[in-house]
Amino acid sequence: MTQHRPFRWPQPLQGNRQEIWYGGDYNPEQWPEDVWDEDVALMRKAGVNLVSLGIFSWAKLQPAEDSWDFDWLDRIIAKLGAAGIAVDLASATASPPMWLTQAHPEVLWRDERGDVCWPGARQHWRATSPVFRKYALALCRAMAEHYRDNPYIVAWHVNNEYGCHNRFDYSDDAMRAFQEWCKDRYGDIESVNAAWGTSFWSQQMGDFSQILPPRFIGEGNFMNPGKLLDFKRFSSDALKSFFRAERDVLARITPDIPLTTNFMVSAGNSTLDYDDWGAEVDFVSNDHYFMPGEQHLDELAYSSSLVDGIARKRPWLLMEQSTGAVNWRNINYRKEEGQLIRDSLAHLAMGANAICYFQWRQSRSGAEKFHTAMLPHAGEDSRTFREVCELGRDLKRLGEAGLTESAVAKSSVAVVYDYESEWASEHTATPTQEVRHWTEPLDWFRALADCGITADVVPIRADWDSYEAVVLPSVYLLDEGQARRVRKYVAAGGKLFATYYTGIADGDDHIWLDGYPGAIRDVLGIRSEDFAPLGTDTEGVLDHLDLSNGTVAHDLADVITSVADTAKVLATYEAEEWTAMSGVPAVTLNIYGKGRAAYVGCRLGREGLAATLPDLLARMRVKGFDEASGASVLRVERVRTGGQERFVFLFNRTHRDVTVDIEGTVLVTSRATVHDDGSAATLKANGLLVMKR
Ligand code: GLA
Ligand code: GLA
Repeated sequence: MTQHRPFRWPQPLQGNRQEIWYGGDYNPEQWPEDVWDEDVALMRKAGVNLVSLGIFSWAKLQPAEDSWDFDWLDRIIAKLGAAGIAVDLASATASPPMWLTQAHPEVLWRDERGDVCWPGARQHWRATSPVFRKYALALCRAMAEHYRDNPYIVAWHVNNEYGCHNRFDYSDDAMRAFQEWCKDRYGDIESVNAAWGTSFWSQQMGDFSQILPPRFIGEGNFMNPGKLLDFKRFSSDALKSFFRAERDVLARITPDIPLTTNFMVSAGNSTLDYDDWGAEVDFVSNDHYFMPGEQHLDELAYSSSLVDGIARKRPWLLMEQSTGAVNWRNINYRKEEGQLIRDSLAHLAMGANAICYFQWRQSRSGAEKFHTAMLPHAGEDSRTFREVCELGRDLKRLGEAGLTESAVAKSSVAVVYDYESEWASEHTATPTQEVRHWTEPLDWFRALADCGITADVVPIRADWDSYEAVVLPSVYLLDEGQARRVRKYVAAGGKLFATYYTGIADGDDHIWLDGYPGAIRDVLGIRSEDFAPLGTDTEGVLDHLDLSNGTVAHDLADVITSVADTAKVLATYEAEEWTAMSGVPAVTLNIYGKGRAAYVGCRLGREGLAATLPDLLARMRVKGFDEASGASVLRVERVRTGGQERFVFLFNRTHRDVTVDIEGTVLVTSRATVHDDGSAATLKANGLLVMKR
């Protein structure tokens, strides 16, 4: 198990109590200085107590190779500090200045065809460039030396969203670093050949110099999956090594200032192995941008729960979110009324002790001028700013009630998420491109919520085997070690739910043989011989399968041909004879050792799972299952560390009014009315209630 850095959290300014941190990215360099006083005054009005500064300020801080200018930054930090607003100071390395890339174009990253990523936006640098590293670390050193004794800096914001735009670099620097990485991982070239299965298509390599990054191979061709998986691992590690170099320079000069960098854990991408990175920071930070539409709250809760898992249930900082629309989707939908406050409190429920936004004041020019902010173009007299102020008051109240001394209560169910399974299963040569790891954990999280269970989303390296029940949702890769863990867990009395596309391949993405899912066939008591993809792109193919329990499978079904004596078939497919799927087991339950293992051999989606789960949960005797109250409300509890006190958060998951019971002292409400007798409350759409019990 990886050793995590000791947890350290930004401490309040001298003379202040620990509060919930509240604020956002602040880019004063985009504005004339006469705006700064108004900024600070309005921040105070909103209850802001923390801002991130300098994230994209390199060119202003170092206007030329041998000239530095910290004056403007000193001035704004002094103003903020005097107003009691703390600073999360950036290493400022995210966007290199023109003079640097002009003098050293070799720091620019290259795409898979060898084309250069030119300056014009940001993150136009390669993590493996020794030249870039030299300049970036010089900046870190200058920042740390200049601000080492500044009393207002409470945290370091190292770089910004590593890998957002420069995750993959195919340059010669990257090639050399990839070769070194392979040497470290495998020792000799024969082991690389074995891991990548290079006897296939004559891809054997004679020595490490023949290892190339997965450069352009022509449209419609297929990259070696082993190499591609390792390149994703390497790319996460290459950026991590750059992060560590920045971190270590800062930490050496300012050992008392905790460090973080903002992750991007959300349902859009899996840029880096954030669970691996979680071990490298003093405290975890995350950026989350809402998914518009019906999954908004559920997706937010799901990905925040994964952040909480990455943070191992220690407090984390929500570094960025939006007050309303972003600017980077095709259509940038607004947030609905109530969602600004609701989203922040949902992150808080899921373990955040700091709520920040991108950004404080909406830009007037530049690529993000249409991205909403805490202080919109409309100014102070706006719904957004009024809600920002209301949120500030809510956070203050919750801080005073002791919320920061609590952690998210452990659920009875862990839904496992695995970055490497996602990376491997997103390869382009698979049974169906409609199936990969990514979507299944969210479907389970939602279906469990439909049954009244708010699951914990737990990274595969963490302690999922300490939960009453565990879901392995299309966890495509299971290596020996993880397979052993699963076996031990169930044998000892664990309750396992596994799905199609779980345990198909080992850690090198080599298929486990003799029937799927080879890694844990024995635990599940089933054997599948084939995949039956279901599609809608071709006339006359099988596009769905009906199950005997009334649900419907889409995208993929396993062709299960044998079931152990210890297993029971709970649902089969009902299909016409020509399909050869009629009567094939779809949902099974096996007794293994002291435990039980259920298998869902097809994609049922959130709805099908929600309909299947009540029976399965009852058979598995999982605690906390409450079909009736579940569907309309999301319930999360935080428990006082070392105490009994509980903070209960209830969120309306629907667009209808829902009524909930009052279970304690009401601390915060939003779009909610407590009934006259105080026993219940009605939550409107996007409404919520926080109580202390
Ligand atoms: C990212 C970046 C911010 C900003 C926001 C906009 O999270 O870190 O600088 O660009 O996106 O959504
Ligand atoms: C072609 C190639 C084979 C194999 C098949 C797979 O026919 O010649 O090597 O790749 O496609 O369908």
